Amino acid sequence: MDTFELNGHILLKGDAVKILKNLPDKSVDLIFADPPYNIGKNFNGYKDKWESDEKYLEWCYEWIELCINKLKNNGSIYLMGATQYAPFFDIFLRKKMHVLARIIWYYDSSGVQAKNYYGSLYEPILFAVKDKNDYVFNAQDILIEAKTGAKRKLIDYRKAVPSVYNSLKVPGNVWYIPRVRFRMPEYEEHPSQKPEALLNRIILASSNPGDVILDPFSGTFTTSVVARKLNRKSIGIELDDDYFNNGKRRLIDVNQELMNSKSQIKLEVFHNVQTEELLILQ
Ligand SMILES: C[S@@+](CC[C@H](N)C(=O)[O-])C[C@H]1O[C@@H](n2cnc3c(N)ncnc32)[C@H](O)[C@@H]1O
Repeated sequence: MDTFELNGHILLKGDAVKILKNLPDKSVDLIFADPPYNIGKNFNGYKDKWESDEKYLEWCYEWIELCINKLKNNGSIYLMGATQYAPFFDIFLRKKMHVLARIIWYYDSSGVQAKNYYGSLYEPILFAVKDKNDYVFNAQDILIEAKTGAKRKLIDYRKAVPSVYNSLKVPGNVWYIPRVRFRMPEYEEHPSQKPEALLNRIILASSNPGDVILDPFSGTFTTSVVARKLNRKSIGIELDDDYFNNGKRRLIDVNQELMNSKSQIKLEVFHNVQTEELLILQ
């Protein structure tokens, strides 16, 4: 197993089940899991197709159970999957946790997805917590514009003192976030890279700075990169050599950018202080 560590972010190369078994229980605050889909995608030459649905689900139940064990008592999990398997994950998960939201992440596509039926333009995400009375949810950090009411400056007469509708709201469970496309700055060569904006919302909502976020199927290591940007810690696991090496490079680049912008800010502050001192001396 290869390991790489940078500023509280650990990248592990190997099989998720084997590695999860060796992580300490109740040690992570948040898990984002985006496993292979079992629909025959090509992950760098490795086809993601199990011999049967049952075999695939058996494997999923094993790592989901391990993930649950790794979560602290106030931890949360966001579990993605192909639309056809989400109901099975849901049933399995709700025997052990509280499923608080069934999120639809949808996007548009300029290409035709299917000609003889309705093409798939969404992916389900289950949001579950261990303890429904004790979990992190930073609603104030993920507010979005409330389109109705506020836009037209409508007055809410249901309130004791009628006032204009709120212009911000906590997002509902249907999220529009564009997919990562070729030539976007964050693009990496991977068939199912998740957008930073998606992880940004999840990490902001369900963790605090310094918390540990685990991603057992890291792919392009979007989770680690966004965790670094948001001052969290992370553990990312990936089986494929090339994806692992790309992830290392991506994390190093982001870390460097952040360090440069930090020293840029420090330099500007230093510059301003010096200018003020000079002004005082004059
Ligand atoms: C759906 S992709 C994850 C994409 C990722 N969320 C991102 O933003 O790039 C699933 C990833 O799991 C990896 N994978 C497949 N089997 C694995 C295993 N047994 N252990 C760890 N990673 C595995 C694949 O190589 C692939 O990169």
